Amino acid sequence: MWFFSRERPLANVAVDLVVEVHNHVLPGVDDGARTLQESLQMLLFWAEMGYQKVIATPHQNTHMNASEEEIELAYVRVHRQLQEQEIPLVLSVAAEYLVEPELRNRIGQLRSFGVRNYVLVELGFWALPIGWKNFLFELQCSGYTVVIAHPERYPYADSSLLKEWYEQGLLLQINLLSLARLYGKQAQQKAEYLLEKGWVHFIGSDLHRSEQIEPLRRALVHRLVRKRMSTFLNPTLL
Ligand SMILES: [Fe+2]
Repeated sequence: MWFFSRERPLANVAVDLVVEVHNHVLPGVDDGARTLQESLQMLLFWAEMGYQKVIATPHQNTHMNASEEEIELAYVRVHRQLQEQEIPLVLSVAAEYLVEPELRNRIGQLRSFGVRNYVLVELGFWALPIGWKNFLFELQCSGYTVVIAHPERYPYADSSLLKEWYEQGLLLQINLLSLARLYGKQAQQKAEYLLEKGWVHFIGSDLHRSEQIEPLRRALVHRLVRKRMSTFLNPTLL
């Protein structure tokens, strides 16, 4: 069994988040955790920080498209270790879908999470996908609550586009790693801007590698995360 220091994590910030909503913790199914051991390192971090639940969100797009069976197998391997090592975390699986034409064929079968059928989507990094507005509206009309992954990371997402997304009822999920400046100054500033505005619905990690754990630890005590803690929807997913 793993032994946890039962000291309360930094300023109770992580304890209040309770649920981790965006990460690549399942081993070998995308560009995230490479081994079972790396997965467990990540999960131990969350357990030590006071999280109670982790929703794994492997990439699903034309380049990273692990099958349902492969994802299930990865989940079972990790889940077994959680039980054997008595790590007190609930693990569930959703996905991070790239908005691309192929995704239209999967509407109705997307792996969503939470009672409001949240579905985590990412947009291309270099340009908005053609027809994105209609497509996201179609998702909403199909019963999903759309959550845009890391809006702060898209170079084209200026303040007016961020405002438009927020006002259209699209939920926004920022990465803690953006606050740790892992993707540069612009992404960090935009994440802070969204927090200042109160437009952040979910906080996630987008953790891919065990080397990112230390920056993640630092980001958890960011003053704006503390300031807005009561507004995030993470705890409603428990
Ligand atoms: Fe991701």
